[in-house]
Amino acid sequence: MLVRVCSLREVPEGGMIRVDLNDKGLLVAKVGGRVYVADVWCTHEEGDLSLGLLEGDIVRCPLHGAMFRLADGSVVEGPEGEPPESIPSLKTYKVKIQEGDIYIEEL
Ligand code: FES
Repeated sequence: MLVRVCSLREVPEGGMIRVDLNDKGLLVAKVGGRVYVADVWCTHEEGDLSLGLLEGDIVRCPLHGAMFRLADGSVVEGPEGEPPESIPSLKTYKVKIQEGDIYIEEL
């Protein structure tokens, strides 16, 4: 089942927003025209990733600097320079764009 997240227009190119949906926080990013949706909470200590930095398709947590690749949720760098294996990967969602709106395949 598809769940509408937000309008494509709401997400700036090269930027990201947080969308709260059914008690779940989602991070929505647009990079090079491609849209990514992932959980907004860092898997380390639940930093709000929407307040972090987006560099290409990699988001850096504002709390301790862990980095996640939004394409697949993999950890690029752990908190405070620790190895990627030190924290779980980030949950990402399959995205569909329909008539200017962003959808994911269920929560
Ligand atoms: S909460 Fe994200 S790196 Fe610590």
